Amino acid sequence: MNLRPSKIDLGVSDDKLYTPEVGSWAEDKYRLFWCYADLFATSMKEKWDQRVYIDLFAGAGHSHVEETDRCLLGTPLLALRVAHTFDWYIFCDQDPHCISALRKRVETMRPTAEVRYIPGNVNRITSYILEEMPPLAPGKKVLGFCFADPFRLRDLHFSTIKTLAQRYMDFMVLIPAMDPLRNEMIYLDPSSDVVDLFVGTPSWREEWRKKQKEITFDTFIASFFSSRMSHLNYTHGGLEDSLLVRSSEKNLSL
Ligand SMILES: C[S@@+](CC[C@H](N)C(=O)[O-])C[C@H]1O[C@@H](n2cnc3c(N)ncnc32)[C@H](O)[C@@H]1O
Repeated sequence: MNLRPSKIDLGVSDDKLYTPEVGSWAEDKYRLFWCYADLFATSMKEKWDQRVYIDLFAGAGHSHVEETDRCLLGTPLLALRVAHTFDWYIFCDQDPHCISALRKRVETMRPTAEVRYIPGNVNRITSYILEEMPPLAPGKKVLGFCFADPFRLRDLHFSTIKTLAQRYMDFMVLIPAMDPLRNEMIYLDPSSDVVDLFVGTPSWREEWRKKQKEITFDTFIASFFSSRMSHLNYTHGGLEDSLLVRSSEKNLSL
């Protein structure tokens, strides 16, 4: 994937609403995210009748960079700041404080945008997400862009991706690499189903046995996830086609 981080101004003033903390590396994530979302929204504008943006882990709309006085626009508000705005937005989060702050921020920033808010665990409310999409109609082509930014592997189930893929849908998934690195022993334990749910099959264990001398666990998870997407008929160039976001402090992969 060739993305050159753009010059969007991510900074925003403190509006005193609920604002979760992030590390300084989040700035790279937001720039890359905006760049791709902007590219997607612009290039699909003439090809589809409606473009829908879905943020599965939307957050509160603003983030506060820890140990600084800097606040940044989060992914749902960045998706509202693309040059050719999407026609429809769906924002999900299981934290009611996030949904409530996000709603107020969207109403201030883009009061006329067509937005649906769905509180709850995305893995349990997936059918509602599909219901909130513009209905299928003859001759009307609807394309979704679904962004998934989970804290941990256990927050996202592959079954959720598979259900959403029933509609025309592009996915951008941020794989939280620190989680499998930190919890490798726990996830490898036969009693854990975290990775099974994330990749949608227990067969990863057999594959890991073959690969464990060649690659690290986090790289394996990213690569296996990518191969699972190809089972849903998505094309992906493998790991070379992914982007690594690193923690600026310790150069850790995130
Ligand atoms: C890493 S933050 C994403 C923030 C947002 N993408 C941003 O950067 O502006 C993850 C968010 O997902 C929410 N979350 C975690 N697990 C979830 C789940 N299973 N379903 C819905 N939301 C979840 C958390 O409340 C949190 O707000």
